[in-house]
Amino acid sequence: MRKQIVAGNWKMNCDLAETEALLNALKSQIIPESTQVMVAPPYTNLQHAFQSVKDHPITVAAQNMHQAENGAYTGEVSAAMLKSVGIKHVILGHSERRAYFGENNALLAEKVATALRHDMTVIFCFGEELTDRQHGREFDVVKDQLKHGIFQISENDWKQVILAYEPVWAIGTGETASPEQAQEMHAFIRRTIAEHFSEATAKEVSILYGGSVKPGNATEIFGKEDVDGGLIGGASLDAESFMAIVNAFK
Ligand code: 13P
Repeated sequence: MRKQIVAGNWKMNCDLAETEALLNALKSQIIPESTQVMVAPPYTNLQHAFQSVKDHPITVAAQNMHQAENGAYTGEVSAAMLKSVGIKHVILGHSERRAYFGENNALLAEKVATALRHDMTVIFCFGEELTDRQHGREFDVVKDQLKHGIFQISENDWKQVILAYEPVWAIGTGETASPEQAQEMHAFIRRTIAEHFSEATAKEVSILYGGSVKPGNATEIFGKEDVDGGLIGGASLDAESFMAIVNAFK
């Protein structure tokens, strides 16, 4: 049975005090056993966050990492550094990294390989832009991102992978994909994995939807057969909203 997951991507929000306050608010809530809950604070607060939730069923993830082992890469953070402060999960390929920091499929393939070599779990993000959808090429774009960003991994590596389909036009815009659009794309993603790997692997991988998920729309989106949860931006910064989304599975 694949896992139900709700992950909060805090992006460049929350200083140390705010991180502490938000984690305390989450820790005071009951986390349903059926759902894996993750938060991804900025780098500076990862160690604190990891220590803070040590005895709670909340997983802390990083929002990014560098592909090299170490070296002269000013401003960057390696997989080993993340592991050394307890972090075993990393978001890779977020559309903001692709758009503002020039991350492309080839680079992401390297990052994925490095993360897996360090036995980390990758939350791999991808999704089409508005113009892609307007031109009817959303399936081609998504297939391309998967093929060139992550399909180089071995069948066995899929156990360490969570996918997050985030249509760029729905991120931070208040506009979500309809539950039907999300289901259609998630089913396509699963079929594509089945074609390149196996039915069994396709069935087991959790595919999250991201893009303006809120307490008011989460139940409907998560209710779709191939949607296994969400990657939440804005609404993850408020404990009450985030927990409402965590509890949105029927
Ligand atoms: P919003 O939920 O703010 O649209 O952001 C989604 C996202 O980018 C999560 O990674």
